[in-house]
Amino acid sequence: MSSTVSNSAREGILRRYRDRLPITDATPMLCLGEGETPLVLSRRLGERVGCRRLYFKLEMCNPTGSFKDRGMVVAVAKAMEEGARAVLCASTGNTSASAAAYAAHCGLEAFVLVPRDNIARGKLAQAVAHGARVLALQGNFDTALEIAREISRRHPVAIVNSVNPNRIQGQKTAAFEIVDALADAPDILFIPVGNAGNITAYWLGFVEYYQAELAARKPRIMGWQAAGAAPIVRGEPVEQPETVASAIRIGNPASWKGALAARDESGGAIEAVTDEEIMDAYRLLAQEEGIFAEPASAACVAGLLKHALSAKQSKGTPELDIADKTVVCIITGHGLKDPETALAIEAEMTDVPAELAAVERAMALT
Ligand code: F0G
Repeated sequence: MSSTVSNSAREGILRRYRDRLPITDATPMLCLGEGETPLVLSRRLGERVGCRRLYFKLEMCNPTGSFKDRGMVVAVAKAMEEGARAVLCASTGNTSASAAAYAAHCGLEAFVLVPRDNIARGKLAQAVAHGARVLALQGNFDTALEIAREISRRHPVAIVNSVNPNRIQGQKTAAFEIVDALADAPDILFIPVGNAGNITAYWLGFVEYYQAELAARKPRIMGWQAAGAAPIVRGEPVEQPETVASAIRIGNPASWKGALAARDESGGAIEAVTDEEIMDAYRLLAQEEGIFAEPASAACVAGLLKHALSAKQSKGTPELDIADKTVVCIITGHGLKDPETALAIEAEMTDVPAELAAVERAMALT
């Protein structure tokens, strides 16, 4: 299996995967340093769930702190190539942060439609900092996306949601990197699912590498939705999606069909985890691995914990067994993006007078 991993300075995914992306001589080779994110071997959670080869793909290490940058660099480069002056997206936050950054990078105007009451503050701060026109809608993501699509049909504004196929093309490169790093595809991939663009993109990437004989196998794809926003699990749209994981608070995913194809063609599953399970995984990931992810990312780790439990309960079911499997969890976004959720644990701080003796006492050193 060939490996194309390089340790040189980050060249960005447009250059690195030029031959596998819809790039022409006229495409501007934008780069904010996206891609080449770490694949980290678990030190503690793997032991907890009984999996020797558990890895975390740290997509939170992309320039704006989420996986969206991989797709956005392609979408914005193609929009530039086609002469667009402005880009538009609906977003639960990360897409808007990324669109705002890449638009600023190349002098395009960015319009972002976000659900007023359900966007994490850090993401909003990013969009504002990059000078995007932030339109806060009194509605949810699904409504915002409908409006964004209609505007892009009526006006010369490039939509950079994952309904834009260039986004999916860029995001598939994360699958390439995993195969390159492991010298083959993993056995199982755990991934959070919201609008379902990312699960669609990973499957595309794994299939493409398999067909090019750069991987000997394809992984089983295990997608995870939040229980209060689980349309694919329930088999019908959810009118009022609710979850602490605001990034995946989506009731009618645009790439629904892509998610079903990834699930069915890979022999995988798409299941739900409760907010409580998400928050338990969020803490475990931060406290037992040193990985501070946002709640939506923790959803796939919650899924792994749940999967491990069912595997234990139904011992002898080889498809469920993960002990000897190579497993990868996709850590899609950074915990710092959602400070309100993080600071809800502020209660765990200890107030101490600014005196040596008091600090020693608090540390149980005296
Ligand atoms: N994780 C994070 C951190 C996200 O921001 C998203 C989606 C997902 C997972 C789910 O990915 O939609 O491709 O299934 N965020 C979008 C946004 C909806 O607007 O930023 P998906």
